[in-house]
Amino acid sequence: MAAAAPGTQPPLRYSVKLLLVSEEQLPAGLQLAGPGQSALQLEVQPGEEDADVTVTDADGVCVFKCLVNRDTEYCRLGKESVLITLGYNSALLQFKSQAEYSTFSNALKRCCNQKKEDSVFSQRTDEASAAQYFQFYGCLSQQQNMLQDFVRTATYHSAILQNHIDFKDKVVLDVGCGSGILSFFAVQAGARKVYAVEASSVAKYAELLVRSNNLSDKIMVLSGKIEEVSLPESVDVVISEPMGYMLFNERMLESYLHSKKWLKSNGMMFPTFSDIHFAPFSDEQLYMEHYSRTNFWYQECFYGVNLSSLRNAAVDEYFRQPIVDTFDMRILMARTVKYTVNFTEAAEEDLQRVEIPFVFQMMQSGLIHGLAFWFDVAFVGSLVTVWLSTAPTEPLTHWYQVRCLLQTPLFAKEGETLSGKVLFVANKRQSYDIQIVAVVDQTGFKSGNILDLKNPFFRYA
Ligand SMILES: C[S@@+](CC[C@H](N)C(=O)[O-])C[C@H]1O[C@@H](n2cnc3c(N)ncnc32)[C@H](O)[C@@H]1O
Repeated sequence: MAAAAPGTQPPLRYSVKLLLVSEEQLPAGLQLAGPGQSALQLEVQPGEEDADVTVTDADGVCVFKCLVNRDTEYCRLGKESVLITLGYNSALLQFKSQAEYSTFSNALKRCCNQKKEDSVFSQRTDEASAAQYFQFYGCLSQQQNMLQDFVRTATYHSAILQNHIDFKDKVVLDVGCGSGILSFFAVQAGARKVYAVEASSVAKYAELLVRSNNLSDKIMVLSGKIEEVSLPESVDVVISEPMGYMLFNERMLESYLHSKKWLKSNGMMFPTFSDIHFAPFSDEQLYMEHYSRTNFWYQECFYGVNLSSLRNAAVDEYFRQPIVDTFDMRILMARTVKYTVNFTEAAEEDLQRVEIPFVFQMMQSGLIHGLAFWFDVAFVGSLVTVWLSTAPTEPLTHWYQVRCLLQTPLFAKEGETLSGKVLFVANKRQSYDIQIVAVVDQTGFKSGNILDLKNPFFRYA
C-alpha cells in the first residue's frame, strides 16, 4: 500500500443546470432552470483546503469556473440546488437529484470546512495512515477481495434477508459502504431508503452501481467519512462490515459506533455484537520458524560485515508481529476466554483501551508458545440471529485467525492455571498496541510480549 499524494484526488463529475445571477437581478426572484435548459457538465477537483469548480457545456467550453474554499459563501436551495455567491454575482447549480446534490455538498464540506482538524476521526488518526488506508479501499481489487469472501458476503446477505421485517420500509445507514453491496442487500430486504457512506474514492463506483442498477431513488451514496458527513434524517438500522484482523485492527468499529448519532432510539445495529475468543496454544514449529527468521542477523561475515549486534533487535521486531494464518484446534491447550463488544451499548471511547483479564485451566501439559485469537459477530434480528464466525473450526475467511507469540514459552502442567491479561491500546495508525502478560499461577513462571497489530506477519500459504 502506498500513501496517496495530497491534492490528487480524482475529480467528481455531475450533470447540472446553471443560472448566473447578478445582485440587480435578485429582487425579481430566482427562477430555477427549466426543463428546456440542456444539461452542463460540472467537475469538482477537490484540493487540500479548497475545490476547483468548473462547469462546461456540451462542446467542452467553460461557462463558469470558481475556487471554493472555507471563505466561500454557499447555501442550499430547495432539495437539489446550491447557490454559490462570489462578490456581486451568484451561481445557482441545479443537480439532477438530491443524491447528486448531497455528494457534491459533502465533497465541498470536506475541502472547505477544515473538518480534518475537527472531526473525531481526524483527531484519532494520523493523516498519512488515513491516506494510505483509504487509498487501499479505493481499489476495486480490494473490494473484490472482500466481496469474494463467500462466508462473509453470504452471511451478511442471509442476516439481512432473513430478517427482512427489520428492513421493510425502513431507513438504513450503511457505514463504509465500499462497493455498496450491503446497501443493495438492504434494498432487496425492502428498505425504503439507504444512505451509503464511504470515505474512499470507491464511493464513485458505488454511485455508478446504484445508477446502473436503477436504484438512485433508494440508495443515496454520500462520499465522506461517517464522522464528517450529514444525513438528511435519522435511521432505523445501521449496517456495516467494520471488522479488521483480530476484530479491532483498522479502528473502524469506532466509526461504526460513532454512526449511532444517526440512529433512532429503538434502532438496530447489524451486526449487533461481537465476541473475541482466545486461548493458549502450543506450536513448536511456528515458534522455531519465527525464531529462525532472525538467524540472518547472526551472521558474522555478511560481505565482510558482522551483523550479530542486531540479532536481538531483529528478534524483538519479529516477535512484535501478530501472525495471521490458520491452525488446527488441537494446538489449543485450554478452553477459550471470551470478551464481548455490544455495538448497541458500547461508545466509541470504550475501544480506546480494551483490557481483557484471563484465567485458563490447562487441559494438557506442555509449552505454551502464545495466545490464539479469533472473533464472531452476531446479527440479532427480529426473526433470527445469524452468526458470522472466524473460528478455526469454521470455514476459513479472509480474516483467518491471529496468533500472538510469547517471547519466552511457558511450561504448564494439566490442571494448572495460566492467568494474566491482554491489553489493547489504540494508536493513531488506525490500529492497536497489544500487551500480553501471563503467569503460571502454581510455579510463578511468567512471560509476555508487546505486539504491533498494524504490522502483522501473513503466514498463510
Ligand atoms: C471492510 S470494508 C467493507 C465494504 C463494504 N461494506 C462491504 O461489505 O463489502 C470497509 C469500508 O469502509 C470504509 N470506511 C472505513 N472507515 C470509514 C469511515 N470512517 N467513514 C466512511 N467510510 C469508512 C472503507 O473505505 C471501506 O471501503
